Amino acid sequence: MLPAYVPNPCAAAFGGGRPIDGGRVLGDGRRILGDGKTFRGLFAGITCGLIIGFLQVKLVSGGFAVFGTDLPSFGIDHAGSIKVIFTLAFGSLFGDMFMSFFKRRLGLKRGAPLPVVDQLDFVFGAWVLTYLAYPRWFADNFSFGIIITVLLITPLLHLVTNIFGYAIGVKKEPW
Ligand code: CTP
Ligand code: MG
Repeated sequence: MLPAYVPNPCAAAFGGGRPIDGGRVLGDGRRILGDGKTFRGLFAGITCGLIIGFLQVKLVSGGFAVFGTDLPSFGIDHAGSIKVIFTLAFGSLFGDMFMSFFKRRLGLKRGAPLPVVDQLDFVFGAWVLTYLAYPRWFADNFSFGIIITVLLITPLLHLVTNIFGYAIGVKKEPW
């Protein structure tokens, strides 16, 4: 899940500048996505997700000399994992954008909280894209128990991360 978790805080830390919707509004008079979704945030977030994912694969494939000896592969399909890093990272921010689109249609201003959705949109985005692109990998790696665990711990992780982001001035709201 790390390649899906990391893009959001990285988008918050490095985002800003030109909004993805170019400032455009829809027929309802509201922004398509809003100023909270920027190109810089998108690219910085995906890049961070890819970096963490490559490090993870490198770690379990025994690529780090610090361990002295090669670690066992644990039956993990490393080639498959590399491809899936991108769908996890991009899917995460795509899910986040997708729900911002709906928040704007509901009339919610940029940054307004939408409980549950704010805490889990990126998880669903990452899962749906990964499932569509690599259904076998998804089924092999996301067991029922893992899915339930992720759904339970993610909102908590999200809350703690955002309070921290707010405290250091990276996020405008503590949610
Ligand atoms: N961010 C960005 N580009 C993205 C996603 C996030 O620049 N694609 C940055 C923005 O600075 C944003 C911050 O990360 O304000 C926090 O993201 P999020 O909470 O998803 O955005 P909100 O500002 O709360 O906007 P929304 O109401 O649309 O969720
Ligand atoms: Mg928000």
